[in-house]
Amino acid sequence: MLNISFSSEAIAPGGSLVLLVAEGQTTSPLFKTVDDMTGGVLTRAAEAEEFTGKEGKIVTVLAPGGKFDRIVLAGVGKAEAFDALKAEQAGSLAASALRKTEKITIATGELPHAADVALGATYGAYHFSVYLNPVESRKAHALSSVTVITADAEKVQKKWAARAAVAHGVALTRDLVTEPANVLTPEEFTARIQGLRHLGLEVEVLDVPAMERLGFGALLGVAQGSANAPRTVIIRWNGGKKGDAPLSFIGKGVTFDSGGISIKPAAGMDEMKGDMAGAATVVGLMAALAERKAAVNAVGVVGLVENMVSGNAQRPGDIVRSASGKTIEVLNTDAEGRLVLADLLWYAEEHVKPAFMIDLATLTGAIVVGLGTEYAGLFSNNDELAAELTDAGLKSGDKVWRMPLHKEYDALIKSDIADMKNIGGRAGGAITAAQFLGRFVEKTPWAHLDIAGTSWLDKGKFGQAKGATGFGVSLLNTLVHKYYEKN
Ligand code: BES
Ligand code: MN
Ligand code: ZN
Repeated sequence: MLNISFSSEAIAPGGSLVLLVAEGQTTSPLFKTVDDMTGGVLTRAAEAEEFTGKEGKIVTVLAPGGKFDRIVLAGVGKAEAFDALKAEQAGSLAASALRKTEKITIATGELPHAADVALGATYGAYHFSVYLNPVESRKAHALSSVTVITADAEKVQKKWAARAAVAHGVALTRDLVTEPANVLTPEEFTARIQGLRHLGLEVEVLDVPAMERLGFGALLGVAQGSANAPRTVIIRWNGGKKGDAPLSFIGKGVTFDSGGISIKPAAGMDEMKGDMAGAATVVGLMAALAERKAAVNAVGVVGLVENMVSGNAQRPGDIVRSASGKTIEVLNTDAEGRLVLADLLWYAEEHVKPAFMIDLATLTGAIVVGLGTEYAGLFSNNDELAAELTDAGLKSGDKVWRMPLHKEYDALIKSDIADMKNIGGRAGGAITAAQFLGRFVEKTPWAHLDIAGTSWLDKGKFGQAKGATGFGVSLLNTLVHKYYEKN
């Protein structure tokens, strides 16, 4: 993990320096100071490149005035609009632009939110290098230390601890999503969660016999074709008042989704190693809450299952009995996420008895068609919870867009011979999936986040690298902090 420090000392010559420059601030005191140090090279470079501080624009000046290795001018857009989220994006931009440089300094000048700049830098510097030659990958991703220069370093340092917890949670989620399915089996995923006990998390594991006793017929039906046995893992963080109802976060953890007998096409099937992103987000969030010692009670519930093809695999047409007692006709074995979540939602409501519950799942291709990679789909039985999530989305940058639930959609998942079927046809595919989930929630305020489009980026974009995004950790941390922590 990136080493972060804050300093209020004056900028000294040497090394690699990033100047965050707001629109039209190429005459700011900071800019002038460094410009003077380099004999006017910065002004000249900015003019030559028509750099005005526009958001996302980068100018790299090598060996300016012989005083630094390089100075990077990073445009952050309008100063008035520079909020915590913009600061994060600027930090990410700076760190990813200089990922080959071992040590960098970022100067924020008059701009606020230095702690968020640092948080963003950890995002931008992230790289999954477990399976790479260490010597070569260190060259390509050398960045190991960032110093942020800010007027109030001491105050910012104090704010950093909570940000660092989020940084670690997001990185953990990204690591888990990126790990291949031959490594991250349900068993190995469980072991990784158990490895978080040192943070003060309680971890309870339900193995197959335990899930059989609970009647998890829907989850177990998905798992039965795989040689890798499933697990349900319950993760508890008791940071709040004793007896206060916990918040519950529930994750789809399909470690690989081949589609089962309703097998997926070959092209892009490898991406289904990431079908456990919901569970990974829950784990990253729980780790972050524990590390920053959040003043809440929270319970994570993840269902870790592999959806495979074999002589023992579930068949299209099979009918399973979920833990709630409701029966499901499995008409497509590739609509497996909702089967896993059916039992988890029932379990959470029945055994965790949360104040509210939020599930996260890479549930449908239909949500990717509907919302692309910019917004996750939000479905909820509770307007207040939906509004809070929407708000937390805008604050954290993990944006969510509300979609409908309505009893009219029940007609689409009606079965002739069971309580429901697990597919509802092409039209409104993300909605019928959510409506299906809603059948397993009785009275608890609940939200479902379909993160199929947001958990993984095929192509990077401004302030965000390609690959696993860690979507949802910051969103839910923000939600918990803003609305449910009684400090
Ligand atoms: N894991 C997939 C959804 C998915 C698609 C995630 C693309 C990430 C990227 C899910 O289990 C699935 O296969 N859903 C089917 C449901 C259909 C059979 C009703 C889908 O969306 O095609
Ligand atoms: Mn599937
Ligand atoms: Zn799936």
